[in-house]
Amino acid sequence: MNPLRPSDCNYLTELDFDVITTQSIIDLAAQLKSERKYGEFRSALNGQSVALYFEKPSVRTRVSFTVGVHELGGNVVELSGSNTKVGKGENAADFASVLGRYVRVIVARVFSQRTLTEMASHAGVPVINALSDERHPCQALADALTIQERLGTIRGRRFAFVGEGNNVATSTGLLLAMLGAEVWIASPDGYGLPEEIIRSAVGLSGSVYQCIDPKEAVQGASVVYTDTWVSMGQEEEAEARRQIFAGYKVDESLMASADSNAVVMHCLPAVRDEEISSSLMYHPSSAIWDQAENRLHVQKALILNLLRSPRR
Ligand code: CP
Ligand code: NVA
Repeated sequence: MNPLRPSDCNYLTELDFDVITTQSIIDLAAQLKSERKYGEFRSALNGQSVALYFEKPSVRTRVSFTVGVHELGGNVVELSGSNTKVGKGENAADFASVLGRYVRVIVARVFSQRTLTEMASHAGVPVINALSDERHPCQALADALTIQERLGTIRGRRFAFVGEGNNVATSTGLLLAMLGAEVWIASPDGYGLPEEIIRSAVGLSGSVYQCIDPKEAVQGASVVYTDTWVSMGQEEEAEARRQIFAGYKVDESLMASADSNAVVMHCLPAVRDEEISSSLMYHPSSAIWDQAENRLHVQKALILNLLRSPRR
């Protein structure tokens, strides 16, 4: 087998496409969003199927991909960790080799990013990362579209993320830095972005800074973003994490340090009044519900882009 290079036809990380392709997907998503208001859909999948594989729970990703695939004229086949034997008798590469014979695109939510690279090297069809422990690039695309809608521009904006430097902070942070933002991530000591992620931001047109103090990150920010303190798979650490992250709540008092028109963001699901105050979630400054909606539009645009790649 002669695998296509992952960056040619997969979306495993937010840096897989260059800035021009990324921006074109965001702009196409905005166009699809506007067409959808008039009931217009592009049936590019033309009866072909898309596999959705979940090792972890999901609401937004599951529903937005299912609806999006239907709107593109395709069918969804849903699989999960519990009704397959991936990693428990069948390896990810073999699983993807078979799926790729049936479906046009594979969408996978997994624990390990490595599972995705194994799938991508054997699938013969595009593989989309629907969240791993390390990355959440579809969320990042939706976040970029949301910021573009709210603020008009991303380049030069200060973006503050308050919380753990894991999947969402990594993907949204790097994607926004690629599009020219100044990204600040505030995390408790030991819970920040991995060193290699900070290194991978070097050379992007924006920049990524890590700090400890949420106020330092949020100072003058146009966007303040947070995520759960207890990600999927970390449930056993929940109690300890609540103590470690106690000073990292995004609330009205922290927002006083941000720009007066700052936008509040959260990828959801949120633990209300833990990492974010419920009042902020429904405040006019909140773009949280738009972020969730925009998953649908960016993922349709992403699939349309990936359909250009040849099927092996
Ligand atoms: N934001 C997000 O990916 O939500 P789900 O976990 O519900 O899919
Ligand atoms: N960091 C969170 C994101 C959920 C969309 C998690 O991994 O559970």
